[in-house]
Amino acid sequence: MRILLIGTGRMAYHLGHNITRTSFELIGVAGRDAERTADLARFLDRPAFRLNALPEEVDLVIIATSDDSIHSVATALPYTNCVIAHTAGAAGLDLLEPHAHRAVLWPIQTLSHGAPVDLGPVPIVVDANDAVARETILRLSRAISESVFELTHEQRELLHLTAVLASNLPVFLMHEAQRLLKQQKLPTDLLLPLWRTTAHNVVTIGPEAALTGPARRGDLSSIKNHLEHLSNEPDLQRIYALLSAMILKANDHPTDGIDL
Ligand SMILES: NC(=O)c1ccc[n+]([C@@H]2O[C@H](COP(=O)([O-])OP(=O)(O)OC[C@H]3O[C@@H](n4cnc5c(N)ncnc54)[C@H](OP(=O)(O)O)[C@@H]3O)[C@@H](O)[C@H]2O)c1
Repeated sequence: MRILLIGTGRMAYHLGHNITRTSFELIGVAGRDAERTADLARFLDRPAFRLNALPEEVDLVIIATSDDSIHSVATALPYTNCVIAHTAGAAGLDLLEPHAHRAVLWPIQTLSHGAPVDLGPVPIVVDANDAVARETILRLSRAISESVFELTHEQRELLHLTAVLASNLPVFLMHEAQRLLKQQKLPTDLLLPLWRTTAHNVVTIGPEAALTGPARRGDLSSIKNHLEHLSNEPDLQRIYALLSAMILKANDHPTDGIDL
C-alpha cells in the first residue's frame, strides 16, 4: 500500500511516524508550506511534495489538515481511484466528496508537539463509505494500533464530544488554575503532582471513586468562599458554581446558596 500524507501539523507528525513503523510504504508528505513540509519530510526520512505537484501512483491519501480545510484539500486532489481519508473525529465522510472511496482514521489521543507518540496502545476509530475504503483503512489502522473500532458518524460525534469533556475542558481549567497562581506570583508547578495523581486515579479506580473536594464532601462554606474569591473572574465563577452544583446534586448534598 502506497500512502501519501497531507499536512504538516501535530497529527501528520505523529501519524507519519507511526506509519513509518508499519510494513506499508509512506511515499511522502505534502503540505502547503514548503519549509514545514520539508521539516516533516526530513524527520520522517521521506520525500516532500507541494500540493500542486503530487506523486502519481498512490493507494491511500491521508488528509491530516485542519477540519475546516479537509474539503478544499480533498477536492483539489487529482486522484480518482485511490482511497482518501481524513483524521478528524467529528467530521463526516461527505467532506471527502467527490472521491469514490472515502474513509476516516481517528486516533483517540491528544497529539501535541514533542516526542512522537506510539499509537500502538491508542484506540483508533475508523469509518468508510464502501468496501474498498473500509478494507484499506482497517489494514493500516490494525498495523498501527492494537485496538481498532468501526463506528458510524453519529457514534463518532458522540465519542468526540466525550473526548472534549474528558480531555480538552479539564486541560483548559488547568490553564486557568495556573493563570490564577501566576497572577499571585506563585509557582504553577505546585499543581502538577495533583494533576498526575488525579489522572492516575481516574484510570485506575474510575472517576466516581477518584472525585474528592468540597463539592464531593458537601462543604458549602468552602464553595461559597471560593466563589467570593472569583468575584473578579465572572466566567470562572459561573463555571465553578455550575460544576459544584452538579457534583453536590450527584452526591445528594444540598445546593443552598450556590447561585446558578
Ligand atoms: N492534534 C490532535 O490531538 C488531534 C487528535 C485527533 C484528531 N485530530 C485531527 O487531525 C487533523 C489535523 O489536526 P492537527 O492537530 O494536526 O492540526 P495542526 O497541528 O493545527 O495542523 C494543521 C495542519 O493543517 C494544514 N492546513 C490548514 N489549512 C490548510 C489548507 N487550506 N491547505 C493545506 N493545509 C492546510 C496546516 O498547514 P500550515 O502548516 O501550512 O498552516 C497544518 O499542517 C484535524 O482534522 C484534527 O481534527 C487531531
